[in-house]
Amino acid sequence: MPSRTYDFVIAANRLPVDRVVRDDGTEEWQTSPGGLVTAMESVMRGRSAAWVGWAGIPDETPEPFTDDELLLVPVPLSLDEVTSYYEGYSNDSLWPIYHDVIVPATFRRSWAAAYEQVNERFAQQCAEVAAEGATVWVHDYQLQLVPALLRELRPDVRIGWFNHIPFPPVELFGQLPMRREILTGLLGADFLGFQRPADAENFLRACRRLLGARTKGDVVDVPHTDRRVRAASVPISIDAGGLRELAMSEPVQERAREIREQLGNPRTVLLGVDRLDYTKGIRHRLKAFEELLRDGRLSADDVCLVQVASPSRERVEAYRELREQVERTVGSVNGAYSPIGHTTVTYLHRSFPREEMAALYVAADVMLVTPLRDGMNLVAKEYVTCHDGPGALVLSEFTGAAGQLRQAFMTNPHDIGGLKQAIMDAIETPEKERARRMKALRNQVAKNDVQHWAETYLAALRAAPEKPAPTES
Ligand code: ADP
Ligand code: G6P
Repeated sequence: MPSRTYDFVIAANRLPVDRVVRDDGTEEWQTSPGGLVTAMESVMRGRSAAWVGWAGIPDETPEPFTDDELLLVPVPLSLDEVTSYYEGYSNDSLWPIYHDVIVPATFRRSWAAAYEQVNERFAQQCAEVAAEGATVWVHDYQLQLVPALLRELRPDVRIGWFNHIPFPPVELFGQLPMRREILTGLLGADFLGFQRPADAENFLRACRRLLGARTKGDVVDVPHTDRRVRAASVPISIDAGGLRELAMSEPVQERAREIREQLGNPRTVLLGVDRLDYTKGIRHRLKAFEELLRDGRLSADDVCLVQVASPSRERVEAYRELREQVERTVGSVNGAYSPIGHTTVTYLHRSFPREEMAALYVAADVMLVTPLRDGMNLVAKEYVTCHDGPGALVLSEFTGAAGQLRQAFMTNPHDIGGLKQAIMDAIETPEKERARRMKALRNQVAKNDVQHWAETYLAALRAAPEKPAPTES
């Protein structure tokens, strides 16, 4: 691999594609799961740049390869590191802490050590591919030590970091045994981007409380150095133009009609699309739906719910338990309410191509986005972009998207009574009013798409303070 050649490098735990080994032993590359890849793949497509990340299977290091100008640089993880750095520290220590401790966090010193070791490897790989003076854009909670490690190796490069998930209040963040190392790791960057203003404020407060750092506005003076780092919110988005074009295409429109037919042409199709993650409020959503059927406010004769739940982190206990609970509830709702010939809840535990996802959004009358906490939630933005006419978005207040999609039917998913009412409002609001709200939502996302996000982020990174301004005499 040519070294020090790329002016633009991004690092994320995952590459945009995963190496997948099928049951028959054959292998293929598939799009990686999650919102980070959805957003970054459209930003990076066709750019001459390098993407440093894990290929999704342990103990394998495929050679770097180029995909449409983009060099993909696989970082190897051993099976032990997948368990300790990825499933352990990233997804069983950090993920619960950063999502309001919806499930308890587990701390193990061996996991923390693996996190440091893997972050070191990512930093080295970035240092290897970045050209003199390059921009390196690091992503998400799995790589929070990389900025400082990379600065040590390559003081010449400009370093940005963006957090795709929430940044927790200091009262929760402070539980992390590695809290100071993480803050110091992040402060190695020139600019830190967050989803919501509240996330950036939580970070700034943590720097003051836990590092004794001074802050002025959104800029932190890095203790024991003459460096300053800015932390601000730049909410992420989707490739609205590309997705809209796909959704409007005749094959997708035709498929949407077919989906409704296959569902038995109900009056109302409700839709949920999530990774099968306890942050997404899937259990709360199913409970509200079940109670609406039980109360007779909804009838299984003219309403159905399609729940797409893509497999996620299946070796982590909390995810395994969630899957069992969700599948049990789906079974019991269907047992109690499905008419002969149709299922009231269609549960799809697998990945679909973009075209099929777009057709589902077009087909759905009401989209249910009910996370207990979510950095942004791109599904909400995808739905309003794809759906034409009188749809409705039920949206949790605890998503980053709620800060922008103000015309949605807002809800607190912890309040099951309130959630039921929000679903009923979404169904019963007159068509004209629903169409008006959907249009406003669609325009909001079209104006603030992922290209706009990337430009705003990179402009902020270029403009970030390097050294304190000389004091005027
Ligand atoms: P997260 O990043 O937490 O998974 P987001 O809502 O921000 O949540 O992003 C999820 C992304 O994954 C969206 O682009 C969505 O379309 C996509 N997605 C979710 N489930 C599936 C699925 N079963 N098949 C294909 N894409 C999916
Ligand atoms: C969220 C995170 C990403 C992560 C994705 C999928 O979007 O912000 O960093 O890649 O979920 O999760 P996974 O653990 O499968 O990578």
